[in-house]
Amino acid sequence: METSWNLPPLGTPKSHIPTPALLVDLEVMEANIARMASYFQNQPAKLRPHFKTHKSPVLAQKQIQAGAIGMTCAKLGEAEVLAEAGISSILIANQIVDPLKLSRLAELARQTQVIVAVDQAENLRQISRAVLQAGCTIGVLIEVDVGMHRCGVPTAEAALSLADLACKLPGLNFLGVMGYEGHTVFEADAAQRKQNAEFAMSALVGTAELIRKAGIEVEIVSAGSTPTFNQTGAYPGVTEIQAGSYIFMDSKYGAMGLPFTCALSLLATVISVPSRDRAIIDAGLKVLSTDNGLPELVAPAGVRLVRFSEEHGKLELDPEQAQLQVGQQVELIPSHVCTTVNLHDRYYVLRGGNLEAIWPVAGRGRSQ
Ligand SMILES: Cc1ncc(COP(=O)(O)O)c(C=O)c1O
Repeated sequence: METSWNLPPLGTPKSHIPTPALLVDLEVMEANIARMASYFQNQPAKLRPHFKTHKSPVLAQKQIQAGAIGMTCAKLGEAEVLAEAGISSILIANQIVDPLKLSRLAELARQTQVIVAVDQAENLRQISRAVLQAGCTIGVLIEVDVGMHRCGVPTAEAALSLADLACKLPGLNFLGVMGYEGHTVFEADAAQRKQNAEFAMSALVGTAELIRKAGIEVEIVSAGSTPTFNQTGAYPGVTEIQAGSYIFMDSKYGAMGLPFTCALSLLATVISVPSRDRAIIDAGLKVLSTDNGLPELVAPAGVRLVRFSEEHGKLELDPEQAQLQVGQQVELIPSHVCTTVNLHDRYYVLRGGNLEAIWPVAGRGRSQ
């Protein structure tokens, strides 16, 4: 079993941190938090950052101190971690349908302010019964499919019908609508991305309008992501933005020219140099996700990351340009931050190249 003496003491320089290690550059991360917070200071819409990216209550607190109105999360288990840490307004941007989870959801709603996404009538009835049994109430948002074709009702009329039902069922507090424009976020051309995001938001805000015309109050219209934070975030009628990755960024979002900088990297060590043109590092699929492709290697010219297996990364060396020694450290920028963080127990938090803190990834694996 691991004990605290396995961990390096605070003040340890980066070069002495055991690898593979997930590093946070605190100054860069703080600048990302501040930049996003300052944008929303002057907007009618407010920021409710997505917990799925960092899964750390320490970071959720920092985002709230900077002005966020609460947290978004994907899973009930994540919401429980947030509630345990004292976060008092939590949006679960996902459907909770199985009976055991419904009673956990109701228990959570008894303790703190919870809002949950719903896209089926039967789910509204299930949640209503669960909260009645627990003796509490819960907020609900109707999820609308704004073009991503994941969850969500397909039309404004279907959303109105669910909103109407939510208002009639005991224990439910209908708060509004949500619609994640995930199909627009990787568009590299900012003007095109804006147009696509605005098209998606016209459907979401139009849905809110239809519900209001039927005499039902709509307080929350929730959407948004890191690449659309100032597009969706500026769209009239949108009230909350669920951006997550901006806090750390990754190589995929980093290539899009967004006003945030990569604050997270994976520190690895060269464990073998079997030939002049090959070196092997102690980092592979179990510490870096590859759903968005291989990570970006930060290394001298002539070194290329070519392949991952479970615990190995294979580097190709141009012997004319580059040499690596066993024991030498290299850094990699994850291609997808959210799926990489979920592979780790803790962050090694650096300021000025020295270890300032170790934060647990408390929401790691809390996918139930
Ligand atoms: C429901 C939902 N909201 C918001 C986001 C935005 O996240 P990011 O800022 O990481 O793009 C996501 C990303 O997967 C999501 O699934």
